[in-house]
Amino acid sequence: MAEVQREFVMIKPDGVARGLVGEIIRRIEAKGLKIVALEMKTLDRETAEELYAEHKDKPFFEDLVEYVTSGPVVAMVVEGGDAVKAVRNLIGATDPVEATPGSIRGDFALDIGRNVVHAADSPEAAEREIKVVFGDDLKIHEYERCDEAWLYER
Ligand code: RTP
Ligand code: MG
Repeated sequence: MAEVQREFVMIKPDGVARGLVGEIIRRIEAKGLKIVALEMKTLDRETAEELYAEHKDKPFFEDLVEYVTSGPVVAMVVEGGDAVKAVRNLIGATDPVEATPGSIRGDFALDIGRNVVHAADSPEAAEREIKVVFGDDLKIHEYERCDEAWLYER
């Protein structure tokens, strides 16, 4: 079995406003990943800037911060074998026009500045971003999925 990882996923304000929360969560669950924390939040500017700190010198930074603070988001921690790669593949390429059909961005978006969902790009980034967004409120819920025996070879 692949290494069990924790991944940070966030449905962005366009995903929430467009009624895609259920569809995105459905795809994460259907893949076999386990949601271990989930909360709707509205990010303040400071949190958004910290979340996307790696992009602070990019020309799109200001628009990105405005976008992700423009309405409620749904933040999640998901767990599973190779969870970071699995989620990044479910989400698809950053530019939705390039994203493979069948991926979330490939199926539901057209504009790089409105690409519906965020996911951390490494286990280290996930750990950092979980702290940034959930802060002291973080509670990881431990439980077994009833299909775990069939999701993994061992
Ligand atoms: P994310 O962090 O949101 O999961 O997206 P990502 O890893 O696929 O892409 P990243 O390079 O980290 O970019 C972060 C977000 O910034 C916006 N963006 N706009 N206008 C542009 O050229 C541009 N490039 C990036 C997107 O919303 C992207 O998801
Ligand atoms: Mg990124």
